Amino acid sequence: MSNERSSFTGKIGFVLAAAGSAVGLGNIWRFPYLAAKYGGGIFLFVYLILSVTFGFALMVTEIAIGRKTGLSAIGAYKKLNSKFSFIGWLGALIPMIILPYYSVIGGWVTKYLFTFIAGPEAAMTGGMTFFGNFIAQPAEPLAWFLIFLGITAAVVFLGVEKGVEKVSKIMMPILIFLSGVIAVYSMCLPGAWEGVLYYITPDFSKFSIRLVLGAMGQLFYSMSLAMGIMITYGSYMKKDVNIESSVHQIEIFDTGIAFLAGLMIVPATYVFSGGGNIDKGPGLMFGTLPQVFEGMFGGQFIGALFFLLVLFAALTSSISLMETVVSIVQDKLHWKRSTSCLVVFLGALLLGVPSSLGNGLWSSVKLLGMDILSFFDFLSNSVMMPTVALMTCVFVGYVLKPKALIEEVELSSRFRGKKLFTVIVKYIAPIFILLILVSSVLDALKIVTI
Ligand code: PHE
Repeated sequence: MSNERSSFTGKIGFVLAAAGSAVGLGNIWRFPYLAAKYGGGIFLFVYLILSVTFGFALMVTEIAIGRKTGLSAIGAYKKLNSKFSFIGWLGALIPMIILPYYSVIGGWVTKYLFTFIAGPEAAMTGGMTFFGNFIAQPAEPLAWFLIFLGITAAVVFLGVEKGVEKVSKIMMPILIFLSGVIAVYSMCLPGAWEGVLYYITPDFSKFSIRLVLGAMGQLFYSMSLAMGIMITYGSYMKKDVNIESSVHQIEIFDTGIAFLAGLMIVPATYVFSGGGNIDKGPGLMFGTLPQVFEGMFGGQFIGALFFLLVLFAALTSSISLMETVVSIVQDKLHWKRSTSCLVVFLGALLLGVPSSLGNGLWSSVKLLGMDILSFFDFLSNSVMMPTVALMTCVFVGYVLKPKALIEEVELSSRFRGKKLFTVIVKYIAPIFILLILVSSVLDALKIVTI
């Protein structure tokens, strides 16, 4: 049975859904950590420049491919040039790998939201120990994972317009509001100003190649690029919506929320730990921050608001991951949305179990020295995403030719950045992406650290 393709109702729906995908855990727990690690302001500065050049060019590429073909990744590449459909296949694998482990983490966030509402004393005083004990159990994290994945599946089941678009229109404005409130609160803590200054003042002596590569890797992940998501969302976009200005708006959203997350976290942890050293990833979010909340006036309330914000950010991202996989299944197998949804839900459930158990029962299983969840994270973010991004640039730059996508963008408006777009896709992006790929693999395998 073939279904007519759904679409977003208009520009706002598209921009909010795409921004919902982009704004996720990466903005909240990875960006502030990287900014603190790479010297604060200088990282922000480099990130901003990369965002309006690389991020812009690659996002335009994916959205235009999606809208031009009206298909998700696999079908889209096949339609453009059947010899290159392997790029679509590879790209399609990425959300399939990410969705299960992302939902495991989403489950942890859901648990913390409930903990902060019901009684967070143990989490606040225990910090990392409380968190470590929680994820090491077999049953409880699995239950929260199931709840998170279930909510994601329910939204995707409702469809593009009634599910994805509607939820984004509700969650994204709340998310901005909460980010603003918590950031202001955090900046008003006694002693926080020093942390704010560290975060926003560029110190050019801290500039390094490593910083640029770190910022670039974060940019890809944060803008949900190179994994077929923006192709899928582009395929739901109407022909009269302006691609160029939509991309600028998504960038502002994504970078704006990442910046605010830094304002929430860097000054508060600065006060707490008395310096610029902050933990990364799970340690920061579930270990340090609850302890920081404990020392704040109204910490339980602020903590609950914070985890609600994180939950919304994670949900809109996991929805985009599942929507992409469901859309691929629908395009390929012509199943109904409900059947595709159920199959993807069950598949993700099955694949997520090892990632969840890898922190406890199966903690002896190590892949390249990493626990199961970290291994999937490494495989998708550090190996597969740069590979797909590189192939996409070479394909668009030299096989399809940028002109084909420029024409697509120009269907709805003038394309002001078309020269920038062409130069980046053809020459600059391939070289830089290759560098990221090599450096992150060598780094993870602990061969060399650039
Ligand atoms: N862009 C999201 C973030 O910043 C991460 C993400 C990755 C979302 C992959 C969807 C898919 O957290």
